[in-house]
Amino acid sequence: MKAPQTIGEDMSYNSKIKGTGIYLPERIMTNFDLEKMVDTNDEWIYERTGIKARRICNPDGGEYPTDMAEKATWQALRTAGMEPNDIDMIIFASVTPDYKLPNSASVLQQKLGITNKCTAFDIATACSGFVYGVNMADSFIKTGMAKNVLVVGSEMLSREVNWKDRSICILFGDGCGVAILGQAEEGEKSTIHSTHLGTDGSGAEFFDQPIGGAVTPIEEHHLKEESHYMRMKGGEMFKVATRTLANNAKVCLDKAGMTLNDVDWIVPHQANIRIIETTAKLLKAPMEKMIVNIEHYGNTSAATVPIAFHEAIEDGRIKRGDTVLFDAFGAGLTFGATLLTY
Ligand code: ACO
Repeated sequence: MKAPQTIGEDMSYNSKIKGTGIYLPERIMTNFDLEKMVDTNDEWIYERTGIKARRICNPDGGEYPTDMAEKATWQALRTAGMEPNDIDMIIFASVTPDYKLPNSASVLQQKLGITNKCTAFDIATACSGFVYGVNMADSFIKTGMAKNVLVVGSEMLSREVNWKDRSICILFGDGCGVAILGQAEEGEKSTIHSTHLGTDGSGAEFFDQPIGGAVTPIEEHHLKEESHYMRMKGGEMFKVATRTLANNAKVCLDKAGMTLNDVDWIVPHQANIRIIETTAKLLKAPMEKMIVNIEHYGNTSAATVPIAFHEAIEDGRIKRGDTVLFDAFGAGLTFGATLLTY
């Protein structure tokens, strides 16, 4: 039985994560591979970022964002013990959707054979996308507007990176992670304690891709100049990131009336190991609490948090009953956190 709580005259429900899944492209691109493409080296990349390798989608092998999401969702459905038609909402977070139209959530609905005409929409909040999706799913479930929400973070950033620009191509990779959120049973420990979302548009210029939108459609000269790719002010992003991640955690903990001592694991956005280490220092949290996998996959934007979360469940670190903090920031500048008991 679900666990309704009375808030004024309204009924509300607790939500929890019922299942997770991931998909990572087969192709591995190491720092040594990058050495052959741009003026860089493994030592520089690893020391400055913590990254050793990243995965790259194979378009000829049909590894697009919704394909990765489909595979990851089958895994999450199995874990949750659900059928596709049990899902009554899909939130697809990506800045690299398969198409401009239709949205990726609609494409995924078809690929999964969902016939219940459920709500399906995309969000484009960059690296905070999955956390945005989880927090929105929590609200929809709490208010009874949805029962089982599939939240996807799936990215094919390899398409948007200038592979001749060493300042940016070393950082990113492709991949997908998903979670299914549903109503918690009465008396269950698993729940979402608090959520926090925000955006500071004044930092939008730190990370952008202005060419290719409605304002400036891509023209031949952009392709020649290679000005249509993602652009980043790395130093500015770095400074904002550490402040933001630390503040996210504090706000979320305060909202729940909890402290870091109550948290077993922090799953931060994986942008740079030095950002994660600095955040841990600011929070006075031991690195042992941080789930880190950036070495293997680099920054997969909306997919980093669900991939790291899923892997830590699979390898036995995160167990049912553990309290976990998702903590993310991204282009926009968007930010968000989720405090939950798994
Ligand atoms: N290989 C070798 N040398 C390099 C490379 C490279 N790949 N890239 C830059 N360098 C050189 C620079 O040219 C510079 O040389 P110089 O001193 O002769 O001018 C030197 O290395 C230092 O460069 P910095 O840019 O100062 O290096 P820094 O230590 O700041 O690291 C980095 C750069 C890794 C990009 C860092 O700033 C960073 O991680 N920033 C945050 C990135 C981030 O958080 N992105 C979030 C994205 S969120 C989203 O929404 C997707």
